[in-house]
Amino acid sequence: MKIFIDSADVNEIKEAAALGLADGVTTNPTLIAKSGVSLEKTIRAIASFVEGPVNAEVTSTKAPDIIAEGRRIAQWGKNVHVKIPIDHEGLVACRALAKEGIASTLTLVFSAGQAILAARAGAAWICPFVGRLDDISHDGIELIRTIAAIYDADTDSNTRILAASVRTPVHVIESALAGADAVTAPFPVLKQMMQHPLTERGIRQFLEDAKKSR
Ligand code: E4P
Repeated sequence: MKIFIDSADVNEIKEAAALGLADGVTTNPTLIAKSGVSLEKTIRAIASFVEGPVNAEVTSTKAPDIIAEGRRIAQWGKNVHVKIPIDHEGLVACRALAKEGIASTLTLVFSAGQAILAARAGAAWICPFVGRLDDISHDGIELIRTIAAIYDADTDSNTRILAASVRTPVHVIESALAGADAVTAPFPVLKQMMQHPLTERGIRQFLEDAKKSR
């Protein structure tokens, strides 16, 4: 399973890339606003050192405007994907962009029905939001499992599952087990995955014992 980083902080993404944890990048308008840098500048900077998909989200809401914005975004780098919220307008735009060879990621996916439609619209990726479903007492991981089963059975579709709204290491592990093609996680979650108290205790013990053998 591939690991994407969910961030618009270029330095943080560089740090993750050095660890092999930036197979791709997802941004959204909230992350861009937090970074204080423009979407175009941020995406161009990220696409200069990340080889996989770099997702830039549109803010247009009508299909013709989304298509125009998507065409503009796609020029920022050969690996830049157009991230589009999945609604009627987004599906129309995704289909039109796919016909032009522009890759889209349909985001804010909360149901298997939406995932089925995304595949028909030619989305390269979909982002089911695990954490936000858990927040309202639904099972986000179960959605990943259901979509993976549907996509596995659908030989016509090449749409891939990018588990998003990931809040914990358990979300990453469970997404992998449920059949996600990739997970996009904030860097603090990836850092949490590096840690284990028994590893820390073991390192301390080995260092103390190493001193005794000198
Ligand atoms: C990724 O593509 C999404 O924008 C992101 O994972 C949303 O995460 P959140 O629900 O923690 O805001």
